[in-house]
Amino acid sequence: MKKIAVIGAGTMGNGIAHVFAQAGFPVSLIDVSEQQLQKAVQTISKNLDRQVAKGTLDAAAKETALRHITTHASLAAGVHDADLVVEAATENTELKLKIFQQLDEHAPQGCILASNTSSISITKIAAVTNRPEAVVGMHFMNPVPVMKLVEIINGYATSKEVTDTIVELSKQLGKVPCVVNDYPGFVANRILMPMINEAIYTLFEGVAGVEEIDTVMKLGMAHPMGPLQLADFIGLDVCLSILQVLHDGFGNPKYAPCPLLVNMVMAKKLGAKTGEGFYTYTPGSKELVVSKGFKK
Ligand code: CAA
Repeated sequence: MKKIAVIGAGTMGNGIAHVFAQAGFPVSLIDVSEQQLQKAVQTISKNLDRQVAKGTLDAAAKETALRHITTHASLAAGVHDADLVVEAATENTELKLKIFQQLDEHAPQGCILASNTSSISITKIAAVTNRPEAVVGMHFMNPVPVMKLVEIINGYATSKEVTDTIVELSKQLGKVPCVVNDYPGFVANRILMPMINEAIYTLFEGVAGVEEIDTVMKLGMAHPMGPLQLADFIGLDVCLSILQVLHDGFGNPKYAPCPLLVNMVMAKKLGAKTGEGFYTYTPGSKELVVSKGFKK
């Protein structure tokens, strides 16, 4: 495993490029938007600076990591010599299927195709390629440089050799791999999203306010963020789409998204990224300023 390509320069894509580059791998970061690519490199530089300021990385290692990253607006140019591609594009099934068809065409023989999808079926993605045995889920958690877990998802056809390679690679990144099978929501979101949805129902039914719900879970269960703040951090649209995958995939009403979540997404109150969700945020930052009053 020598050369890595990362598709998508958003929050997850820049975090994934960051950890591979820091671990010494040359990385091609690919996005259709040049502007997004520039922003991603600035974000990686800023996040590496945090590590330098904390003394967990020296300044020379930061520069080396940045030198490992090249950016490409063309998928074909970015993946032509890759040993592994990690796709971290928008969580949209049609888009991912299109990207994997292109990857199958342009990535070399033997290149492993991984998706950072949080809930879309790896088996479905693999089925649009001519190498389903080489398609695997490599699900990082946000913020990628901080979170230790990589959830590795075996699709129906993923070969053991490919899974083992991704397990070893995750360890080289300093992460802890956890191998799971390909069913809706895998493990992380099958457990996380019903908890977030229940927190939203608790608010919707007037049992408690935003801050009370989050404080109970933060101080009572030692969660670093309460479920409503975490939902804002993940993005309410992402939470809704994962719940829909669980609901459709299992056909069980226990996964039905809370109507309040549906309304907030329709109103484009998507959390930190739009400046407002269950809390309001300083424009351009994910910093929480004040808790938003709740209207049913
Ligand atoms: N890059 C590098 N370092 C970062 C960083 C980044 N992007 N973001 C934060 N950090 C570092 C900080 O520098 C700090 O380092 P030290 O511990 O060395 O001081 C550390 O992380 C903690 O950050 P802060 O002090 O700024 O803030 P905090 O203590 O409130 O922690 C947090 C922030 C790490 C995000 C914490 O609140 C947390 O763990 N939240 C829960 C995150 C979570 O659950 N993520 C999973 C979401 S689900 C998902 O991603 C998958 C999905 O499919 C939906």
